[in-house]
Amino acid sequence: MTEEAAARAEQARTILRTNDRGGYAVPTARLYPFQWNWDSAFVAMGWACFDETRAWQEILSLLKGQWEDGLIPQIVFHAPSDDYFPGPDVWGIARDPPTSGITQPPVLATAVRVMLESATDHALAERMAATIYPRLLLNHHWWQTARDPDGSGLVATLHPWETGMDNSPAWDAALARVPTQTTTVIRRRDTDHVDASARPRGEEYQRFIHLVDAFHAVGWDAARMLAVSPFRVADIGTNAILLRAERDLLTLATRFGTPHDSAAISERIARQEAALPRLWNAGQGGFVSFDLIAGTRIPVATSAGFLPLFARCATAEQIGAMAAKIDRWAALVPHLVPSTDPGHPAFEPLRYWRGPIWAVVNWMIADGCDWAGHPVLATRIRRDTIGLISNGGFSEYFNPVDGRGVGGADFSWTAAIYLLLAEG
Ligand code: GLC
Repeated sequence: MTEEAAARAEQARTILRTNDRGGYAVPTARLYPFQWNWDSAFVAMGWACFDETRAWQEILSLLKGQWEDGLIPQIVFHAPSDDYFPGPDVWGIARDPPTSGITQPPVLATAVRVMLESATDHALAERMAATIYPRLLLNHHWWQTARDPDGSGLVATLHPWETGMDNSPAWDAALARVPTQTTTVIRRRDTDHVDASARPRGEEYQRFIHLVDAFHAVGWDAARMLAVSPFRVADIGTNAILLRAERDLLTLATRFGTPHDSAAISERIARQEAALPRLWNAGQGGFVSFDLIAGTRIPVATSAGFLPLFARCATAEQIGAMAAKIDRWAALVPHLVPSTDPGHPAFEPLRYWRGPIWAVVNWMIADGCDWAGHPVLATRIRRDTIGLISNGGFSEYFNPVDGRGVGGADFSWTAAIYLLLAEG
């Protein structure tokens, strides 16, 4: 490692330590003052590069918010803060600690497997993985029963926030069916911290909160939420991440579970492997999400469409088409991988999930490219990510046109990915 890279790695470690609120890291100070689900999974892997005890603690803290039915919430409100909207009062969920009532992409089982396999403190890792395993098993069971009760092999997401890619143009048409009326008074705080041009628009926020109100009205009951939600999509990102997570859970099950667990996980994997190809859009040469209410494929190509590579679920032909698509995008913008097809009219290089590059998504796509036999592409994406962070700082996301860092600064998951890439 060069001196400069070593200094930057030290900066990354300092960011995690500074964002530590005592057993959990906030994504960044002020803008996101609580613990977020998929952020934590990446952040735990980042901690594991230099402090394994703290890394396991990150996961245990997140699991303090897990519900009895297995749901791992999108946000755990460990301590009060007035810097974020919607806070615990809007969700109205009386738990200790309070949580939101929706979820986020299930990266956790993958993080646990990575941490177990790279551990230097084996005794600790074995003990922690054995403690955490039943909670992961319960969570994956929740995905199946709450979000795919018919066993289609595809899980539903009921809020754009659940996809982790809040204002992706992939959600525009489905979100347009969600009314803008809310019973909650909207008091946005994000635009106090970040320029409004780089955040979701006001109308999107009204629809986001309409959904929260609607779920609140049915008492956060999983079956009723699925039935009443005016937003219901099979997100290609979530489904691919879940399939990858099931594979990693299966590996954990052989060490910490029973043959019965392994059989149930294998059955789900088989169903998901059979279903994911339904999201392939041959005309476009890519995977896309599916609008479960309209019954149609969503035509917008996003970076989530490459995540079946991370799931290890694509044919040779599909792999070739996806690699060609990444090359086409690379001809349009100098940096990879933009969150939205840079040739699409909805592409906006500065606005959150409508164009900017996110380090965590790049980490998953690069992992998938290695699996798919495209190491050159994997290396290119990793180098680009390191270069963007080196020049643009540990930003929340990056402009694929000029490479500048955008959104919140000193971001935990960006720091974590830097450590994984620099030391991996
Ligand atoms: C935003 C992102 C989401 C992330 C959260 C905290 O809501 O869209 O993916 O988990 O911020 O960083």
